Amino acid sequence: MRIDGIAAAAEPRPGQCLRTYLREQGATAVKKGCDAGDCGACTVLLDGAPVQSCLVPAHRTVDSEVVTAAGLGRFGPGGDPSADVDHLHPVQQAFVEAAGFQCGFCTAGMVCTIAGSGVGEVSTGSTRESTGAGDELKGNLCRCTGYRSIRDALAGRVNTEVAEPGQAFGRAVVAPAAARVVSGREAYTLDEPAPPGLLHVAVLGSPHPHARITRIDTTAARGAPGVHLVLTHHDVPDTLYSTARHENRLDDPDDTRILDPVLRFVGQRVAVAVAETPRQARAALALVDVEYETLPAVFDPEAARQPGAPLVHPGKTPGEHRVAEASRNVVAQLHEEYAEPGHDGVAAALAASAATVQGTWTTDRVNHVALETHGARAWLAPGPHGDVLHVRTSTQVPFLVRAELARLLDLPEQRVRVVAGRVGGGFGGKQELLVEDVVALATLRTGRPVQWELTREQQFTIVPCRHPMRIGVRAGADADGQLTALAIDVLADTGAYGNHAPGVMFHGVHESMAVYRAPNKRVDAESVYTNNVPSGAFRGYGLGQVQFAIEGAIDELAAQLGIDPVEMRRRNVIRPGDAFVVGRPVDGDLEYGSYGLDQCLDLVEGALSSGRGDSVPDGWAEGRGVALAMIATIPPRGHFTHAKVSVDADGDFVVDVGTAEFGNGTTTVHAQLAATELGVPVDRVRVRPSDTATAGYDTGAFGSAGSVVAGLAVARAASSLKLKLDQLSAGYLPHRNGSAGQIPSTQLVGVWAEATHDGSPRSVAFNVHGFRVAVHQGTGRVRILQSVHAADAGVVINPEQLRGQIDGGVGQALGSAMTERMVVRDGVVVTRTLRHYRVPQLSDVPVTEVLFADTVDRLGPRGAKSMSEAPYNPVAPALANAIADATGVRPCDLPIQRDRLWELLRAPITRPAAVAPTGRAGP
Ligand code: FES
Repeated sequence: MRIDGIAAAAEPRPGQCLRTYLREQGATAVKKGCDAGDCGACTVLLDGAPVQSCLVPAHRTVDSEVVTAAGLGRFGPGGDPSADVDHLHPVQQAFVEAAGFQCGFCTAGMVCTIAGSGVGEVSTGSTRESTGAGDELKGNLCRCTGYRSIRDALAGRVNTEVAEPGQAFGRAVVAPAAARVVSGREAYTLDEPAPPGLLHVAVLGSPHPHARITRIDTTAARGAPGVHLVLTHHDVPDTLYSTARHENRLDDPDDTRILDPVLRFVGQRVAVAVAETPRQARAALALVDVEYETLPAVFDPEAARQPGAPLVHPGKTPGEHRVAEASRNVVAQLHEEYAEPGHDGVAAALAASAATVQGTWTTDRVNHVALETHGARAWLAPGPHGDVLHVRTSTQVPFLVRAELARLLDLPEQRVRVVAGRVGGGFGGKQELLVEDVVALATLRTGRPVQWELTREQQFTIVPCRHPMRIGVRAGADADGQLTALAIDVLADTGAYGNHAPGVMFHGVHESMAVYRAPNKRVDAESVYTNNVPSGAFRGYGLGQVQFAIEGAIDELAAQLGIDPVEMRRRNVIRPGDAFVVGRPVDGDLEYGSYGLDQCLDLVEGALSSGRGDSVPDGWAEGRGVALAMIATIPPRGHFTHAKVSVDADGDFVVDVGTAEFGNGTTTVHAQLAATELGVPVDRVRVRPSDTATAGYDTGAFGSAGSVVAGLAVARAASSLKLKLDQLSAGYLPHRNGSAGQIPSTQLVGVWAEATHDGSPRSVAFNVHGFRVAVHQGTGRVRILQSVHAADAGVVINPEQLRGQIDGGVGQALGSAMTERMVVRDGVVVTRTLRHYRVPQLSDVPVTEVLFADTVDRLGPRGAKSMSEAPYNPVAPALANAIADATGVRPCDLPIQRDRLWELLRAPITRPAAVAPTGRAGP
């Protein structure tokens, strides 16, 4: 076999798939996304034809020519074999110029498919009836982009530009890693050569949703071939922690152990085997002899909080473990009611209102489906004060992982180094400590490098998902459409562990309630343990669920009063100067650094009235819907970054910053900010992110903080460095090969400056989404005719990247709005492959018209605000509102799958009921 023009060094092993073999041969441009032929990340050209290499037996390819993304420019169709190894194929060049990727984990496979199948210009029509690449690329999933920039790459559109020195801010500059990403050369977590002697982990999962281990014997497993270590709960520190990571570790309950004798969900770790190969580790697990005492289990969160329900964490306390009421399975709760002076509370206000609504909305479990699964590798290397434990991991929070590993393993933090390479997607799912503890402990016990890479099935069965919620809403308005009362009752299923349970619940009810003025407000919210797979952090952090319900209720009130839904919102949204009120006025550091919600509403209303988009097919019902959302630009209670900018040996600039790049675009944004402050071309700035040994402290890449917290620290550090350089010499020049007056670089090498930012005060950002849809009432089929999104992101740092974040957020939200649902029966996750869990393909996602409000934020870097999570939040309610407008039937349950809508169109009760004067539900 020849791989990218070079004869392979070894024969495949029996039974090995081509994907595994290629990576073992060093062809790390071939990614592992699912090992089931569903995602396309491993696509290569086999004798010129694109194949998903995980499906091909390697031994059948021994006489073949294999071309990966790394060799595409030279050996792909139309390639130039005499060119340099870095030569890009035209398809790859198109992806660079169109900014056709975000995390980029899908890109190497995507470009191989396109180059090998000859897909040319593709229709950019907004419906799933789009043809061409929609068919060719249905086997290549992208979770980040929403596919719009990929369509642009296919069409040869150039979305990027070159900025003049010092002018990078506000320009659509190319991501620094672009050429490496499209050619598969950028190193993701497990793409670097493994240290010699690498061992592998396999984990035995619980077969029971609730059980106690009464006996466990690992004698046979320990003696199995290749096995170096077997761990059970007898062998690990008995220290409670949470897999969730936050700046303050006390934000989450201490309810988890590395290995626990009590098993609370199907798949929870029972035993860990560490062996020379993954196969040997798995074989050893079959020899572990376990006896279980099964315990009563509870799967419904409402049942879980009733008297007599099985208790998931009995004995946990608010003080020691931060579990609110273990005797009711309640992890976190909030019960508050507020009435402005002169008002008498929600019940009285509803009784006196001209229009009222009461209804219940539900959202389902959603999986992040980051294309790179969780994985980590640990090893020991000498340091100045003894061996240092190195952990390279797929994380959004390297510093927080280091801190908790040090605590769990009783090591000083200086003896632990955590590094994230480029991370292949996160969406909140990698704000957890899920694999690092096992590889770290195994390395400490064996002295050998150890690796654990989760399978796609494990991503579905043991990795935390989005919190499913049930949200009751009661709302009232007077005849002018002014809200008189707004009350919500939220029940979140946090599953077997409380990681992120308090944060998601509090955040979910916070900005969703605060964005509306109402003189009477009430919040009841509880997050509840069950014996289901744990829930965790996911884009929007609870807001999308609660906003889905509130925005539906606002539309119902508008319909009762005969007021246009956009106008209804204009009359009721908060304005600068208003207090932020949830269940009471909120103290804190949230401010109106800028305000563009009014503009966003105008922009979406104008676009929906413009006549743009597709026309409605004959016989289908047409409807339009809007929804809005507010989000704080930074997580509360401190989010810290230290940034350092220095001059390197070439006279260029290096930014050391701890935040991770996982497709959020922070390396590009940080380079732009530094280059602008320094007055140099952006390609003279190199960002070194996410290494606890080289960068100063950073809380992490979550809560959309990368641009506004780390970004502000980078800008301040670069500005300080510029001052220093100016003082050292008036002659430092913005160009490498400057003329007279340039100081020899040796005089400047090593000059540096640093800055910090504590993430306070925080601003607010806004998003409004609008849809026009057509609904076929005979089948329940929904066709999106027009999709428009307005974002108030302050001054836009990189228009193409920001648009990409919005496209991606909309695409991901459409998945959870229309098709995505983790089916769980009696605690067993049924949907455990991408084939059964339906994430949007290219042809499923419409092109969204993206518009920006014209605002300047006084708190963000150069007026910018964050915008990574927020676009997700208004999408599902806008879609539901459009369907309700078209059909007169309100979908209150996500996802709005076609069969569910078909049934709903035939149900006798089709809308949330008005509230009777007693406060009870009306007819
Ligand atoms: Fe496609 Fe991240 S860019 S999966």
